[in-house]
Amino acid sequence: MKNNPIGVFDSGIGGLSVLKQFIRFLPFERYVYLGDTARVPYGNRSPETVKRYARESTRFLLEHDVKLIVVACNTVSSVALDVVREISTVPVIGMIYPAAVAALRATVNKKIGVIGTRATINSNAYTDEIHKLSNGDKIEVISQACPLFVPIIEEGWQEHPATKLIIEEYITTLKSENIDTLVLGCTHYPLLKQLLTEMMPGISLIDSGEHAAVMAVRMLAGQERLVEEKEVYIQKPEIEFYVTDIPSTFYDIAQRFLGFTVESPQIVSLGSLIK
Ligand code: DGL
Repeated sequence: MKNNPIGVFDSGIGGLSVLKQFIRFLPFERYVYLGDTARVPYGNRSPETVKRYARESTRFLLEHDVKLIVVACNTVSSVALDVVREISTVPVIGMIYPAAVAALRATVNKKIGVIGTRATINSNAYTDEIHKLSNGDKIEVISQACPLFVPIIEEGWQEHPATKLIIEEYITTLKSENIDTLVLGCTHYPLLKQLLTEMMPGISLIDSGEHAAVMAVRMLAGQERLVEEKEVYIQKPEIEFYVTDIPSTFYDIAQRFLGFTVESPQIVSLGSLIK
């Protein structure tokens, strides 16, 4: 089991921001990445549909003998983590719990903001988790859906003046509520870190992928399932990429999210896995 790969799945390419964090903390592991690029975005879909898609992705990764499943997509983590856990025969890490723990550690004034897709925010998954973990402390959670962030980031508009205006619009309430911590509850938002820091100075930004990776290190170490470290320095981690479609912008976006070039992914069809 130790040498089996870690499976990571997402609605599309965004999960590569999570994979990037895993590679940072677990560089010697092998990875299988699945992006459902034919059906992205999940963020505006109903929980029932997201659950169905999540089941298919989970089965796909299990068939690749992964030792751990990382649900990189915050939308899936919010509405379908129970479904993934139900059918998975290996441990599962979602994005909500690690980020909620980190946010509670970071906040001083006990006012936490959460941004995510519509499905993530409507599910209340972050708010519920933060309250559940707060040990009776009175924590205020202010949530804001930011549906325009995903297309803006995929378009590469991090520096575009329109992006600032849209961010301004979305963060007005978060600012007026005086939050001191902001959970980036979507695979895409880490790419806005710099701009968000400029526009909300002094606020702690919580990158859900980063905290999930740290949790995975602890989990795998505790179960003695960390891969044996190689003595030779590896330049590029071993990753098998699977997608359900290769859109024209795939390679550009993937490079931006991951920081290095993705070699030709294999196209797979997930619907056929419905049992
Ligand atoms: N991966 C999704 C998430 O983290 C964003 C893209 C989508 O809507 O599918 O919520």
